[in-house]
Amino acid sequence: MKDERIISPTKLAEDDSELTLRPQTLSQYIGQTKIKENLEVFIKAAKMRNEALDHCLFYGPPGLGKTTLANIIANEMGVEIRHTSGPSIERGGDLAAILTTLTPGSVLFIDEIHRLPKSVEEILYPAMEDFVLDIVVGKDSTARTIRIDLPPFTLVGATTRAGDLSAPLRDRFGVISQLEYYNIKDLRKIIIRTSSIYQFPIEEEAALELAKRSRGTPRVANRLFRRVRDFAQVKGYSIITLELCKLALNQMNVDEAGLDYTDHKYLRGIIERYNGGPVGVEALAASIGEEVQTLEDVYEPYLLQEGYIKRTPRGRVATEKAYRHLNIEYYSLF
Ligand SMILES: Nc1ncnc2c1ncn2[C@@H]1O[C@H](COP(=O)(O)OP(=O)(O)OP(=O)(O)O)[C@@H](O)[C@H]1O
Ligand SMILES: [Mg+2]
Repeated sequence: MKDERIISPTKLAEDDSELTLRPQTLSQYIGQTKIKENLEVFIKAAKMRNEALDHCLFYGPPGLGKTTLANIIANEMGVEIRHTSGPSIERGGDLAAILTTLTPGSVLFIDEIHRLPKSVEEILYPAMEDFVLDIVVGKDSTARTIRIDLPPFTLVGATTRAGDLSAPLRDRFGVISQLEYYNIKDLRKIIIRTSSIYQFPIEEEAALELAKRSRGTPRVANRLFRRVRDFAQVKGYSIITLELCKLALNQMNVDEAGLDYTDHKYLRGIIERYNGGPVGVEALAASIGEEVQTLEDVYEPYLLQEGYIKRTPRGRVATEKAYRHLNIEYYSLF
């Protein structure tokens, strides 16, 4: 197997086409029903009161639709949205420059909000709570704080690591929602929607097959769709068939369960190098040449949810399901 990444930790250039695929309204947003239903109420209420929507925090693995939701909120509220990210706001002044130029009611979207520097976070607290900015001017004995009023705004934060968020910051969000992996039915709908946006038809069973192999993630579903469409076009098909789907997915080393090259490398790493575990994630990452953060944020959440691995106090353990999946004989020492 060659190193083909289906779920890359960072967005690929081709994901720019996510812009065309991105749902614009809550009604176009497929799945995550609970989150959608609640947001609908909160948005309606805020509009009735003519207020900014309460601050929202979305967390969950990459590609599940956090950024999309932030855009939808702004769109449904009929307000502007400004995009920024935790690591790009280095100093308090950077944040002040953004906050003071927001238009009233607008959405400030901070991606990777867990990576905001502590000093910046502290400026954010009064801004979120009272829409004011406390700025220290002067030094030492002449230092004093001046308070600047801000326009009311909605902070929308997104993170793949809710656990890394400080408690005071988390507590200042009125709406906190965890995005979950999508079920096959919803992924199928997403694929059919994508197919109609691209005007490249796909057979029912083919859409279902893609959905099954998309690891619960819309971004992966769209990526697989684009790749399969490439195969279809080059082979002169005018519709994506099941047979073509299987051929393309096998060619890309996406197995029947949607696991890719890196998942296999990860599971084989635990089983073959560490006798099935337990092994610490640092040791495992080093031995298979991956970054700890990539494994923790991108790969492990799905492997855990699907029961291929378990987390124990002493490290990761491969389950019987992982052995069976890789056709390796399983024996338990316990
Ligand atoms: N509910 C949905 N319905 C339809 N398409 C969706 C949905 N959620 C996400 N998508 C598609 O998946 C793509 C990825 O979503 P998005 O960029 O919002 O994920 P994210 O959670 O912000 O990921 P990251 O953590 O990497 O920033 C979107 O461009 C969109 O095309
Ligand atoms: Mg995002």
